[in-house]
Amino acid sequence: MISRKKLIAGNWKMNKTSADALTLVADLVASVGRQTDVEVVVCPPFTSIETVGKAIEGSTLKLGAQNMHPEANGAYTGEVSAPMLRALFTTHVILGHSERRALFGETDAFVNKKVLTALKNQLKPVLCVGESLGERELGLTLKIVQTQLEAGLDGVSKDLAPSVVIAYDPVWAIGTGKVATTEQAQEVHAFIRSLLTKLFTEPVAQKVRILYGGSMKPANAPELLAQKDIDGGLIGGAALEARSFVELVTAAAAAK
Ligand code: 13P
Repeated sequence: MISRKKLIAGNWKMNKTSADALTLVADLVASVGRQTDVEVVVCPPFTSIETVGKAIEGSTLKLGAQNMHPEANGAYTGEVSAPMLRALFTTHVILGHSERRALFGETDAFVNKKVLTALKNQLKPVLCVGESLGERELGLTLKIVQTQLEAGLDGVSKDLAPSVVIAYDPVWAIGTGKVATTEQAQEVHAFIRSLLTKLFTEPVAQKVRILYGGSMKPANAPELLAQKDIDGGLIGGAALEARSFVELVTAAAAAK
């Protein structure tokens, strides 16, 4: 079986001025800037992408954005494109986060366009999928995840599929302190892997990293990261402080 390198990505959401971002990333570079057992990605707001990019130069940390528009340029006030992100040495981009879907009306079709654009521009998409509490209670979890995954990956070739990262972010666990149980998370991750197998073949599916996101903290991470199909985490709250984020990276290194 292929062993997948664990990936820990910090989604800073709409937090930190560029001065605060610099303080945080300087701490991360000092603590985990030589980490090679785990892939570590930081995703600051657009306003600090350049500052953070410069601060991680020469370290093993990677730079991610939290969103992106599918067009390369044009009259899209307030938006940022793939070539703009690439010019600042961004390597990853979070797409289809539930906050974008719920608060900004992003549809599966729009997210799919972004995924294809990201891949065309050598950016690794971190495609987020996940059900709401109501959907889980109605027994719709797997159906929702399947729809979002298949629509989000529509048109992605087998060759490019290993560059995609999937994040399973159950909406009810985001920022709530309610974490999915390891069984709940592993069940959905295994299901995602089975869908990837159907879409791209087994060897390709084995290469794709599937992250868990939703109140992942140093206390619950070791158990989650020990699961067969949980290849890392997409971290919100615990990514805003160096100490907790570093502990998560350490937990991922231990779980490899
Ligand atoms: P929390 O870790 O704050 O729950 O956020 C998770 C998330 O939304 C990852 O993108």
